Amino acid sequence: MELQTPYFVIEEAVLQKYYDMLTDSLEKNWGNYLVGYSFKTNSLPWLVSFMKKQGAYAEVVSQDEYSLARYMGFRDDEIVYNGPYKSVESFRNVLMAGGYMNLDSQMELNWLIDLAKEYPEKHFYTGIRANFNLEQMCPGETTMGEMSGRFGFCYETGKLAQGIAAIKALPNVTLTGLHLHSSSKSRSVKVFRSIAQMACQLKREFDLKLSYVDLGGGYCGGMPGRPEYPDYFPAVAEELAKEFDPKQTKIIVEPGISMISKCTSFVTSVFDTRDIKGTRYVMTDGSRFNIDATMIKSSYFFEIEENRAYAAERPVMAEQVISGFTCMEVDRLFIHKDRQELVPGDKIVYENVGGYTMSLNPLFIQYFPAVYVKRGNEMIQVRKKWTPEEYVQGSVWEKE
Ligand SMILES: Cc1ncc(COP(=O)(O)O)c(C=O)c1O
Repeated sequence: MELQTPYFVIEEAVLQKYYDMLTDSLEKNWGNYLVGYSFKTNSLPWLVSFMKKQGAYAEVVSQDEYSLARYMGFRDDEIVYNGPYKSVESFRNVLMAGGYMNLDSQMELNWLIDLAKEYPEKHFYTGIRANFNLEQMCPGETTMGEMSGRFGFCYETGKLAQGIAAIKALPNVTLTGLHLHSSSKSRSVKVFRSIAQMACQLKREFDLKLSYVDLGGGYCGGMPGRPEYPDYFPAVAEELAKEFDPKQTKIIVEPGISMISKCTSFVTSVFDTRDIKGTRYVMTDGSRFNIDATMIKSSYFFEIEENRAYAAERPVMAEQVISGFTCMEVDRLFIHKDRQELVPGDKIVYENVGGYTMSLNPLFIQYFPAVYVKRGNEMIQVRKKWTPEEYVQGSVWEKE
């Protein structure tokens, strides 16, 4: 039976291949590691439970993500808690249970000080996020360039030193981890080598005894000619081994896009074509909002599946503007140049769309599309298309 487009498909075998590639490389190069799956990248319940079954912890960055992790069965000690927007209650729960807490700000440090005072008989373990000038180590590669990042305690201004000193002064708190996630455009091996070098430098400078070094996310995966998981960890391990012993210190990784992009596609159909002032518009039932909600992509990986029922000649057309279904003019995905005419019933299948796509989908004009998991030849629906029923849940209105 033909499935109703648009829909996302996750190929389970490819997902498993990437998960295994990551853990095999960590196992081989360091042996002591933890995967914290990045919820924000894609928190589809099926994916979250897949990761949980593999043994991953939940890497969350808000009260809602924390609540979802708990709802999906992660214990408080199976949470890696990052980001600037934690709630006090969830912050305390994770610390009380011995989960992985990476302090992002002075505000959170104050929460920790209060908690430690409130429970003087209990011992707490925390990590701290270092904000440092990765651009200096990898010129032209970072997302922020010369501008500072917004997250964590700044090394260069002395705030990190102050934060570390404040934690060390607490009698019932141990600083046990460093979090060093830094977003880069290049996602290069050099970026991760530099992050590992920084971990070593901070350990030496502040005389730290760490049970974990959290490298964060930001790896490449499934992009031809770009690094894969097995390329990163020999370099990371080579650097970390200069200061750390795998028996004492584990590596935490927080994979997101690298894990799920390659296995995920978005299947759309052409439903209409129109010519306006010499321009051919190809109207599809998928939208740029489904796969590029932040409007930053300039190209897509895609394949065309022609409608076999269409028997007429397909002339080659100089330009066809592939457009989404919404009423926004910006909803144009790409220009299909010097290709055969596309007609209703043709499918456009976008590849590498698993990261920051489903989680950034809006409820705009059409509700969330269905999601299938491809297991062998079977297509298993893991989310049904949203209808007004899901849309109105929790709403109140006066019925006539
Ligand atoms: C702290 C943290 N961990 C993990 C990730 C996941 O990164 P990616 O999807 O690039 O692997 C991000 C993304 O920005 C992040 O900020």
